[in-house]
Amino acid sequence: MALLEVRGVAKTFRGLKALGGVDVSVEANSFHGLIGPNGSGKSTLLKAIAGVHYPDEGTISFGGQDITREPPPMRARAGLSLKFQITAVLPQLSVYDNVLLASQSRGSIWGLLRSRSRGELHDETMDALERFGLADRADDLAGELSHGQQQWLEIAMALTNKPRLLLLDEPTGGMSPEERRATGELLMPIKAHCALVIVEHDLDFIKDICDRLTVLDNGRVLDDGTVAEIEASPKVQEVYTTRV
Ligand SMILES: Nc1ncnc2c1ncn2[C@@H]1O[C@H](COP(=O)(O)OP(=O)(O)OP(=O)(O)O)[C@@H](O)[C@H]1O
Ligand SMILES: [Mg+2]
Repeated sequence: MALLEVRGVAKTFRGLKALGGVDVSVEANSFHGLIGPNGSGKSTLLKAIAGVHYPDEGTISFGGQDITREPPPMRARAGLSLKFQITAVLPQLSVYDNVLLASQSRGSIWGLLRSRSRGELHDETMDALERFGLADRADDLAGELSHGQQQWLEIAMALTNKPRLLLLDEPTGGMSPEERRATGELLMPIKAHCALVIVEHDLDFIKDICDRLTVLDNGRVLDDGTVAEIEASPKVQEVYTTRV
């Protein structure tokens, strides 16, 4: 069984069918891209996986556990983490404190009772910043970072609870080409311990880093497969050449 199994997920907003019965499987330690035209249901699907909202139909299982109606904190404890289109960095706090706060707020009450020493938290925080090239900015205010660096900070924060699956919705939106390339390089090492479901409009970026792709169109799966299979898919080419 895959790490994440989405089966027949449907979601309607005030009569508008955003998702019409979607299946997606994501293997552990794999990077899975969600692509498709604007309004095709990518963010709606990611939110259903994260528990931001619940599907009207279908099931979502994670690590063999049915999480379809579990609230987000339960999913976080099971190893799900997310970063959405809107930045959640606190601009008036230092880069260091943003990561520290994210790692302190993680986990259960039991985790807090076992709370780690100041030294452990410091080491974890600096490790996270180093991995995302932000160690030399630790004392700066997060609001002083470039847009791209703020996105990396947020990814570092999302990884502090050592998730098994990270969900990213358009992390390279608004980035320069150079920042996009760097983002790919920063994400790749995560694969050693964490799977990724990533929504992106930049097809070159997503093809470079993902193992498999699911293409949504009008709330349905148009096609899914390896990057090579999707690139060769006439159905996908039709949508991308005529509508995107
Ligand atoms: N909270 C909501 N209330 C009403 N309609 C919604 C809501 N969220 C999404 N929708 C609608 O559901 C459809 C799918 O939206 P969704 O945001 O999932 O698309 P998307 O594939 O992420 O698009 P984009 O590429 O533009 O981010 C759209 O028609 C959108 O307007
Ligand atoms: Mg979206």
